[in-house]
Amino acid sequence: MSATAAENFADRPVALVTGAGSGIGRAVSLDLVRTHRIAVVDRDAAAAAAVVAAAGGVGHAEAYAVDVTEEESLQDAVRRVLQTFGRLDAVAACAGIASGGTVETTTLGDWHRTLAVNLTGVFLTARVTVPHLRATRGSFTAIASDAGTTGAMDMAAYTASKHAVLGLVRGMALDFGRDGVRSNVVCPGFVETPMARGIFADAPEGTEEFYRELIPLGRFAEAEDVAAVVRHLVESRYTNGHAYAIDGGSTAGYYRNPAAPFVAATGGSHGEH
Ligand SMILES: NC(=O)c1ccc[n+]([C@@H]2O[C@H](COP(=O)([O-])OP(=O)(O)OC[C@H]3O[C@@H](n4cnc5c(N)ncnc54)[C@H](O)[C@@H]3O)[C@@H](O)[C@H]2O)c1
Repeated sequence: MSATAAENFADRPVALVTGAGSGIGRAVSLDLVRTHRIAVVDRDAAAAAAVVAAAGGVGHAEAYAVDVTEEESLQDAVRRVLQTFGRLDAVAACAGIASGGTVETTTLGDWHRTLAVNLTGVFLTARVTVPHLRATRGSFTAIASDAGTTGAMDMAAYTASKHAVLGLVRGMALDFGRDGVRSNVVCPGFVETPMARGIFADAPEGTEEFYRELIPLGRFAEAEDVAAVVRHLVESRYTNGHAYAIDGGSTAGYYRNPAAPFVAATGGSHGEH
């Protein structure tokens, strides 16, 4: 970006987004860049650069190639963010990986890798950014999952990592609330991103339709739906320690599609009670 263009956006607050090269993090970055200057953080340098290019003209974004499991490179990136932008007002920790398997079939390597990215990555992101959020009375938002509030079959490591993110961020809400720093978690169901596409591509036929049938709204989320919730949490003034379900209603209770044959067969009567 040219010096003049950077100057045009110099009065905007600053947001750092991890996992910003794809899916939810990309959508969050491209949404927030309308009002914030954005540090686009991803281990995939080319993907981060592509998001910066897509944000061109709308606002000021810079790319940082960082693996969130490596504290020193995260720390170094935050140092450079502060040099470039001068402040940090909001963090959206979106970096994450999927992993399948029960406790019997998950290898110890997959377990460690999943927790390293999904849990330790959020911990380290918070650890290196909270001192700067304290200075601006800013906000920290992590993307967990509906697998952070309910069990998920055949996803032992992923489910454990996402439940732990809820605990971590709720604790942050208590630790840093008096400093004016708000900490919240977003819990999406399936979202149309490369991650979800990859899961369904590897799954038996009918899996995608099966999961769609469990959603009262009848569709998976778009990444932009999640970005709208992140924006709400960033802009909110009093939301702290909240786990925000954005799953089309699928964790609201047991759901069965009213059009499904089961309902027609049982009708309105369920015997004597
Ligand atoms: N897609 C879904 O259905 C869904 C549902 C619930 C929760 N989530 C969560 O949302 C978050 C984003 O998922 P997505 O669907 O956008 O996935 P995605 O695969 O499309 O994007 C994830 C991004 O994170 C980056 N990343 C992965 N490991 C990293 C690391 N160690 N350091 C830095 N960057 C790293 C990847 O390069 C990628 O750009 C994840 O935490 C995921 O668990 C996704």
